Amino acid sequence: MAGLFITFEGVEGCGKTTQINLLENWLLKRRRSPLKTLEPGGTPVGERVRSVLLDPELKGMVPISEALLYAASRAQHVNDVIRPGLEAGRVVVCDRYVDSSLAYQAYARGLDFQTVMSVNQWATGGLLPDLTILLRVPAETGLGRTVGRELDRLEQESLQFHKMVEAGFEDLAVRFAERFVIIDGRDPVDEVHRRVIAAVDRVL
Ligand code: TYD
Repeated sequence: MAGLFITFEGVEGCGKTTQINLLENWLLKRRRSPLKTLEPGGTPVGERVRSVLLDPELKGMVPISEALLYAASRAQHVNDVIRPGLEAGRVVVCDRYVDSSLAYQAYARGLDFQTVMSVNQWATGGLLPDLTILLRVPAETGLGRTVGRELDRLEQESLQFHKMVEAGFEDLAVRFAERFVIIDGRDPVDEVHRRVIAAVDRVL
């Protein structure tokens, strides 16, 4: 495929949104036609699924339902947005992707890693990012940044849960070292941005 597929990952409050917006502006200046998108969501079907997934009232959702709903949103997203974007030669920048399902649903919820992987291979037709940027922030620090706003279903999980997510991402970065780049998300915003650009420049 002609384009480039970049994903951002990390715990709650790691600063993905800020960094994705900065990268989008940088790509625009370089005339690289960024396509910014997010998961769960990114399509009308995905947005409906997202509202189910993040609804704090749905406390009884079992991990398997949760994993399948994330994968359902992803299947639609890959088909309608990500693949067409890549085929058109665009730089697709996605806020979370398969690695979030591995960190949250496999490592933190305890679902079997290979099963979550297979379901996602099915959902995506095996499409993986060219580059995954992990913004590394301790779970406590990230959660601290969410204080004062209304928390969604996942954010309301315990610190212990979010520590497992954090450890999961570390493990994924080792497992998939060929596409992962880790950047310390506690550094000043422009320093993090400079490192993001350096990583993106290498694959452009
Ligand atoms: P979102 O509001 O996008 O959170 P953030 O700004 O932290 O990325 O909500 C997404 C939530 O869903 C977040 O808590 C992570 C979780 N998630 C999963 O558990 N599995 C997944 O596959 C994805 C994409 C997200």
